[in-house]
Amino acid sequence: MKHEIEFIINGQNMQFTVDSNQTLLEVIREELGLTGAKYGCSTGECGACSVLFNGEVVNACMVLAPEAAGAEIITVEGLAEEDELHPLQKSFIDHHGVQCGYCAPGMLISAKALLSRTSRPHEEEIREALVGNLCRCGAYADIIKSIQVASRARR
Ligand code: FES
Ligand code: FES
Repeated sequence: MKHEIEFIINGQNMQFTVDSNQTLLEVIREELGLTGAKYGCSTGECGACSVLFNGEVVNACMVLAPEAAGAEIITVEGLAEEDELHPLQKSFIDHHGVQCGYCAPGMLISAKALLSRTSRPHEEEIREALVGNLCRCGAYADIIKSIQVASRARR
């Protein structure tokens, strides 16, 4: 079954015809070409596909595209402002929060949601915010440090 849906992604209004069984991740990556959100497990376990959905972190692989009708979505591509990286992105670069980088978009989205709620999170709060994001490289210590530093330069 086909559905006509409309949503806002990274500030832009979009209209699509989607299938009932199509996921939001498929639409974002394959229809829109926004490949920041990654396919990892496709079962809601790894967080590589995380996006902000009406301000909440969701696994886009677990959201059916028709459910996104009317939603406001932000992907990792929406964090930078024009040519200026978000402080979280800068900090991940400066403090080695990225090794292979596969988890980084999801980590950045979870960190962005955390900093929207809490301006100066403690380490424990950062760990809790990242509980749904797995890093196969084991870069957790540097990811946490990157978020701590970015919280001091938050905009
Ligand atoms: S790809 Fe969505 S949670 Fe792993
Ligand atoms: S940096 Fe490689 S998966 Fe996290």
